[in-house]
Amino acid sequence: MRLILIGFGTVGQGLAQILQDKAADLKKRQGFEGRIVGVATGSRGILYHDDGLSPADLLAAIDKGSFDHYPNSVGLHRYNDVVQMIQAATADVLVEASPTHLDSGQPALSYMEAALQSGKHVVTANKGPIARDLSHLQAMAADNQVQVRFEATVMAGTPAVATGIDLLSGCTISEARGILNGTTNYILTQMEEGLSYEKALKQAQTLGYAETDPTADVEGWDAAAKVLILLSALFGQQTAQSDLSVTGITAITQADIEAAKKSGERYKLIASANATGGRVQAMRLPLSDPLAQIGGATNAITFSTDLMGDITLIGAGAGKLETGYALLADLLAIHRQQCV
Ligand code: HSE
Repeated sequence: MRLILIGFGTVGQGLAQILQDKAADLKKRQGFEGRIVGVATGSRGILYHDDGLSPADLLAAIDKGSFDHYPNSVGLHRYNDVVQMIQAATADVLVEASPTHLDSGQPALSYMEAALQSGKHVVTANKGPIARDLSHLQAMAADNQVQVRFEATVMAGTPAVATGIDLLSGCTISEARGILNGTTNYILTQMEEGLSYEKALKQAQTLGYAETDPTADVEGWDAAAKVLILLSALFGQQTAQSDLSVTGITAITQADIEAAKKSGERYKLIASANATGGRVQAMRLPLSDPLAQIGGATNAITFSTDLMGDITLIGAGAGKLETGYALLADLLAIHRQQCV
């Protein structure tokens, strides 16, 4: 499977690392060979090689600052324009993991459209275009007989999207509700342990949980994007960000957290979606509520269904390998279908 990777930050590097470390295992167990032929960053270079790029050399080059440090070889192209590379590339899948812009979805949306129009599947960790335009992208994918997959956009590699869309497709889901932002859950957990908000946020950034601009996390917009994705994917509603009621955690003080603790409660940022809409709200939960027990960057989601009652998934919601894995899971899903 020939891959073009857009974005080589935490998530892109996570996928490259996994493709390198698990290459032999994936080939042996699943007959899968993922070859990165093109990679594009906003300011650190754009590379393409028809024979494939070495994940180890890509990771080493970026460690030194940019793809200028990637070894030259016959057939290596260095581009200045991402779309030009996408259009010229011979590839099966565009993997989009560039920084998220929740308002416009751009420039990732244009990259995805260019890929779909040229018959390439799209696999993405980018919440902006999926939250805004999933139905449009799915229609475009169907027209071009390819797929758009977005497991990484909700709860990283914990299979929330596959569970909701595929595994529970015979059920009617009345609601999806949970903790869908790792950064804020990490910060709230650390503040309970006595760390300051600023230090906890800094740690979340260092650990690769936070968005490039962490305002989206702490003000609730990242969780809101996930709600929009669930509304579209599970309830067929393409909803605008402005139609959601959203609060974050920025107004919660250390004193609030202590007061909640004394009353046997915990603050959690709860996101929910159902057939009538969605919301993101910081609220105090009694410790007896299972969601109150979800700590650190872990996320949880409960699907309330007609035939199966409540089903809850708990797992990583952010992180380098955890999100890289979600991209791999989508690539493997495409691979399995191609093998049928
Ligand atoms: N910034 C996001 C979070 C990353 O903290 O959950 C995963 O979408």
